[in-house]
Amino acid sequence: MSGPKGARGRRFEGALDPVAAALNASVSFDQRLLPHDVAGSIAHAEMLAARGIISAEDLTAITTGLRAVESKLAAGELPWDESLEDVHMNVESRLIDSIGDAGRRLHTGRSRNDQVATDLRLYARAAASRLISLIDDVRRALAKQARAHLDTLMPGYTHLQRAQPVRLAHHLLAWDAMLARDRGRIADAQRRGNVSVLGSGALAATTLPIDREHTARALGFAEVSHNSLDAVGDRDFAIELVAACALAQVHLSRIGEELVLWMSSEFGFAKIGEAYCSGSSLMPQKMNPDLAELVRAKAGRVIGAWVTLVTVVKGLPLAYNKDLQETQEPLYDAVETLDACLTVARGMIETLVFDVPRLRAAIDAGYLLATELADYLVTKGVPFREAHDIAGHLVRVASERGVELAGLGLAVLKEAHPAFEADVADWLDPARAVDRRTVRGGPARSSVLAELDRLDAELL
Ligand code: ARG
Repeated sequence: MSGPKGARGRRFEGALDPVAAALNASVSFDQRLLPHDVAGSIAHAEMLAARGIISAEDLTAITTGLRAVESKLAAGELPWDESLEDVHMNVESRLIDSIGDAGRRLHTGRSRNDQVATDLRLYARAAASRLISLIDDVRRALAKQARAHLDTLMPGYTHLQRAQPVRLAHHLLAWDAMLARDRGRIADAQRRGNVSVLGSGALAATTLPIDREHTARALGFAEVSHNSLDAVGDRDFAIELVAACALAQVHLSRIGEELVLWMSSEFGFAKIGEAYCSGSSLMPQKMNPDLAELVRAKAGRVIGAWVTLVTVVKGLPLAYNKDLQETQEPLYDAVETLDACLTVARGMIETLVFDVPRLRAAIDAGYLLATELADYLVTKGVPFREAHDIAGHLVRVASERGVELAGLGLAVLKEAHPAFEADVADWLDPARAVDRRTVRGGPARSSVLAELDRLDAELL
């Protein structure tokens, strides 16, 4: 007797309608689960043997057979068969083809429902580890650029209007701060999802004397799930991971947007390496930041994946429903999109070349030191609201005369308030102005250096 064609078995007489079969099959995408499916099956078989449910000989045949099937499917030596529906039936059916009855014993005490939930958890756990290491690579690239530009000054913005001078390193470390939280969110999702659901069966576990702790341990899960209906019926671990991916992608989109701005002739702050730029088919002079734009755009796609996923699960009755198969593609797409975008973001950041004089010159126009004048007066005992008013008045005077604040001269300042003295010149020097902002998390050299040291220790 050969193995069953697909999961339908002898309950059915005829085949599925061809269009229905194509819609029903998931093997075109769930083949990504191959290594996890095989790992899950080996752990399950080892447990069955340890409990005396299958023999030691069957176990040897199953593990050797599974490894051979895995490498042949992965290498394309064995084709994926869509009529077998999914990765699980493809693997099992090839195993039975190759080892016969021992292969028919593998599915003892197990259902595809706890099998696919296990595989997906293993996939999500591995994906999270990879994304975390890619985020750390981006963060290392940021730390390196930040250290190289510790003494590069630039304007900080609010409303995309020049506001106050900061260090370039401080701006780059702001990107790092976002990514550090994204890393934390992915790690949280990974930790909460690291639970073994194997042994939950189709919905109501099994009558056979299986050992759930055994398989959990073998697969590196931190604990065993508490309810079989929930275990096969939810995909919240995937929703959580994709939510974290979406937010990371949103952060990357903001970085992408700033890179696009900085690359424009209007800003002219930085150039991204050629390996990450495109030309125009029409205008020979163009060097376009296509990859920064795509990193910005892909946020829509990953947010979309999260919406798809959470919508599939919403309103589903317990326990397993075939709807849950539809949670797979958005999960893969979100993970693979973020993976590629993190890799490209790292490359763009590593190859950034900054126009330091231009960044510095951008501070000199736009009255970025108006706040310093107000702070100066505060140190002379003037109440802040009054000081703010006087500084505003001086900005108006300067703009009427077409000069910057430093060009006003002490006499004009004294006219606005007698507390102004010659030492105000110090306050109107941008480098000193930034370095006076020594509060924790501020842009002063000492504060940024402390952050860089903390970061280096964290990232090693
Ligand atoms: N391909 C299916 C999925 O991803 C596997 C589980 C099938 N279970 C079933 N009862 N039809 O959900």
